[in-house]
Amino acid sequence: MQRIALVAAFVATAGAGLCTRQPVRSRHAMVATREAHATDIGLAVLESGGNAIDAAVAVAFALAVTHPAAGNIGGGGFLLARFADGRSTFIDFRERAPAAASRNMYLGPDGKPTSDSVEGYRASGVPGTVRGLELAHEKYGRKSWADLLDPAVRLAADGFPVSYGLAHSLRSQSTSARLARFAESKRIFLKDGKFYDAGEPLVQPELARTLERIRDRGAKDFYEGETAKLLAADLQAHGGLITLDDLKNYRAIERTPLTGSYRGYTVITAPPPSSGGVGILQMLGVLEGSGYEKSGFGSADELHFLAETMRRYFADRSEYMGDPDFYHVPVAGLLNPHYIEERRRSIDREHATSSATLRPGKLETFESSDTTHYSIVDAEGNAVAVTYTLNNSFGSAVTAAKLGFLLNDEMDDFAAKPGEPNLFGLIQGEANAIQPRKTPLSSMTPTIVLRDGKLYLVVGSPGGPTIINTVFEVLVNVIDFGMNIADAVDAPRLHHQWMPDVLRMERGFSPDTVALLKARGHAVELEDHQGEVAAIRVQDGWLEGDADPRTEGTARGY
Ligand code: GLY
Repeated sequence: MQRIALVAAFVATAGAGLCTRQPVRSRHAMVATREAHATDIGLAVLESGGNAIDAAVAVAFALAVTHPAAGNIGGGGFLLARFADGRSTFIDFRERAPAAASRNMYLGPDGKPTSDSVEGYRASGVPGTVRGLELAHEKYGRKSWADLLDPAVRLAADGFPVSYGLAHSLRSQSTSARLARFAESKRIFLKDGKFYDAGEPLVQPELARTLERIRDRGAKDFYEGETAKLLAADLQAHGGLITLDDLKNYRAIERTPLTGSYRGYTVITAPPPSSGGVGILQMLGVLEGSGYEKSGFGSADELHFLAETMRRYFADRSEYMGDPDFYHVPVAGLLNPHYIEERRRSIDREHATSSATLRPGKLETFESSDTTHYSIVDAEGNAVAVTYTLNNSFGSAVTAAKLGFLLNDEMDDFAAKPGEPNLFGLIQGEANAIQPRKTPLSSMTPTIVLRDGKLYLVVGSPGGPTIINTVFEVLVNVIDFGMNIADAVDAPRLHHQWMPDVLRMERGFSPDTVALLKARGHAVELEDHQGEVAAIRVQDGWLEGDADPRTEGTARGY
């Protein structure tokens, strides 16, 4: 309550620059990540002459050691960069379905989805992280590959003190039960069932050797060399689908980012196979000109309008979003101003729309889905936003034998059975059905915003489908409610994804507001925590950084 009151006070006096919490500020460069060692490593790269891409590569490998729930070399993700000279790029290193994958591979004899897509050797897509980082480094990096890998090798070989949060999460019933089913995972991450205490060192010699090989031989080792052979052999021995050929054939794809505008700001964001960028742009389009913000941040009117906007996009997402290399994603139709206007007009300002009655919209034109995010700005003004993941926390819970890294369960981001919910309760359609070599739909939404053509904001979050709404809310908190980046990240969040027809709200909202939303027909469920934002804003010649106080993340600059 106290915090809400303070936020409200800030909104009322935004022009005076009042705020409830100060972000980290620096003059030249900033790194914001989910884990302190990784932040320090990224900053050291920048301070020693590396650019933002170099720092992004070093941070990714460091997080693969220190943040095993989501940092990875056994998963995939997206890297969005906007360079100081105005160019931008998007590197898609998302996992791909193995060649042996098939449409009904996760359906049991009763025709219902099984848990094979979320746990065990059959849950993994072909990992893309190492290839994607190499591509980014080869095209845009400056420092030597070995220099960027070295800090991660040392962290794995020498160990690092387990943080309170990591110790807590490894002991939690949900995580420990999953990891204990797989001998390597139990040995490495659960200390064979004895568990790590906060402050105890976690030493990962197998992972150190894997990272050494990648350092010395490049991504080729992971996809064709010793690591590839060990990985394929382990997966094949346990009924997994990924073969040496799948690894050899993996390619990261450089794509054109999606760009749109909102109230004069330029929004550069994630294209398909992310569903996030289209979502952000469609939802901002629905808000623009609606006057929704006039009732003030945190008011029932404002939150109702946001929830209805989210509900509508997620209905569209269920129908239209998939891998653009396999399915014609109607991006222009989903962002068509007439269509957006129609979606806006369909919002009843007083009553919740029942999701059962709301269908994906009819598009005018079909033109001729635990993760971690970090944000970096270097002293030249290059900006990088990376979201990468194993999908579920600790992925499939399988640690590859002799290799020391966890594998993803990204296959669950496909529609195992179009029309049935996945791990996140999300319903998806034919566009995202399983096919060999296809990319599962993602919600990861690394996003960069420009003001007057200059870098303004770098932002992203983990959280499955909540990512899209989390990023959306941080954007409007800054742009529409004048918050500094710390306040924009702190502010309580909500999430609606059409189906299930539930409005999830963090506990920071006023109970009176929650009651008003229930009276409008929203099925509200309160939750502790939505997303983990790492963001940087450029303001008045300063870089403002924030790693979400919901986490142990840090932001540091110089
Ligand atoms: N695995 C979460 C996402 O890509 O959306």
